[in-house]
Amino acid sequence: MSNASLTSKRTTDLSRRNFLKTSTLAAAGVATLGAPSILAQAKIPIRAVVIGAGGRGTGAGQNFLEAAKITGVDAKIVGVADAFQSRIDGCLNEWKKAGVEIPAANAIAGLDSYVKVLQIPGVNYAILAGPPGFRAPHFKACVEAGVHVFTEKPVAVDGPTCRMMYAAAELSEKKNLKVAAGTQRRHESNYIETIKRLHDGMIGDIVSLRVYWVNGGPIWHRGLSGETDLHKQVNNWYHYIWLSGDHICEQHVHNLDVANWVMKDHPVRCWGMGARQQLGDKPGEIWDNFAVEYEYPNGVRMFSYCGQITRKWSSVSEAVHGSKGWSNPGGSISVKGGEGYRYRGQHRSGYVQEHVNLINAIQTDTKLNEARQVTDSTLTAIMGREAAYSGGDNVEWEAVLNSKFQYGPEALYTDASKMTWGSFRTLRPPMPSRHDILRDPPVVAVA
Ligand SMILES: NC(=O)c1ccc[n+]([C@@H]2O[C@H](COP(=O)([O-])OP(=O)(O)OC[C@H]3O[C@@H](n4cnc5c(N)ncnc54)[C@H](O)[C@@H]3O)[C@@H](O)[C@H]2O)c1
Repeated sequence: MSNASLTSKRTTDLSRRNFLKTSTLAAAGVATLGAPSILAQAKIPIRAVVIGAGGRGTGAGQNFLEAAKITGVDAKIVGVADAFQSRIDGCLNEWKKAGVEIPAANAIAGLDSYVKVLQIPGVNYAILAGPPGFRAPHFKACVEAGVHVFTEKPVAVDGPTCRMMYAAAELSEKKNLKVAAGTQRRHESNYIETIKRLHDGMIGDIVSLRVYWVNGGPIWHRGLSGETDLHKQVNNWYHYIWLSGDHICEQHVHNLDVANWVMKDHPVRCWGMGARQQLGDKPGEIWDNFAVEYEYPNGVRMFSYCGQITRKWSSVSEAVHGSKGWSNPGGSISVKGGEGYRYRGQHRSGYVQEHVNLINAIQTDTKLNEARQVTDSTLTAIMGREAAYSGGDNVEWEAVLNSKFQYGPEALYTDASKMTWGSFRTLRPPMPSRHDILRDPPVVAVA
């Protein structure tokens, strides 16, 4: 994509923006008029289930219990779901140390376990920490069941799962459900205070942004274990596009989310490049590094870099450049010829604060719904990934959002609770010019 094409072909996705504004207002109306006002003192008991009992699900359960103590709310974990019994056992062992006991009948394994735990009487809070590929159907089920949600990021892996998320987000707003997302920087006061100052114009007009998830080492690889293709893929989920969305989506979504927060918008097009450099012959589909140049509707560019390869320099950070200075939105601002800013306040872990905020929003019936914004940031990552995979010159937001290609098995998009362990293809790691899901028919290579 030439520089000229980046700026001259600018279009805005007005249709969706207007739709979002209208439905946000509609949802606000429902929140004000439709729901009874709940007094802060009338503490609502929270009964939570955790869906996806791996590292993060186990940790998020503990963060939730810590948040319950901070808020003084009667909050318990009453159920846990995972695809594999062994993961549930590991999680329960950890929680036992914190005095959490779950009745055996409420610790449920299987691909349909997410539906079953939501049926436990009294459940009103779900913590979603399975692989990203399952997030949209899991979130949709929670919203249909009418429970408040803490959802880990990212929340989708392709156009169809993004559309499922936007639809469920809209329904969650109509139902006045509270939703917090695992893009935890939005709950960290160092980011909040700094970005507030950027929005107030402390560095003037924003000119460009740089965002990094450049790890100095490789990502885990669990090898191939299990009876069927699906067992192997779900166990080693990071390495399959339909399950993780690839590294740019799985991890870098954090930094892309910060950029979207600063810009109060999402990019509308991009080009990108990347490779599978160090994963070599390990089973899997994904790449291990990406560089993407994004364009926002006002023409501002964001330069994004992510990778999980062994290298000397690493950085997980963001930088914002303005007409009057620049900022690390994680806590500092430099102003040309003027006084800068450095965050020196208290810092509570974002992992705990996001549950404190969600519990408080439930108790006081105040608006907190991060479902759309985390879907926007996830789609930002997916758009960058598809630009890099295809080698295309001008990949547009609307085209990716409306794309029909499904990376996962059909049941994921119809009823994930009906998915059964069995066979499923593995794709060849995408090769630019030989992979393009936006073409009709899509171009992909099966391994
Ligand atoms: N916000 C953060 O900073 C942060 C940090 C770590 C992880 N995460 C996110 O948490 C998610 C999980 O990551 P993790 O490190 O815990 O991975 P993990 O592999 O340790 O845990 C994922 C768990 O989900 C289970 N699972 C798979 N398919 C399932 C299904 N259909 N239904 C229910 N459970 C299913 C797996 O068996 C596994 O136990 C990822 O999306 C990751 O990005 C976020």
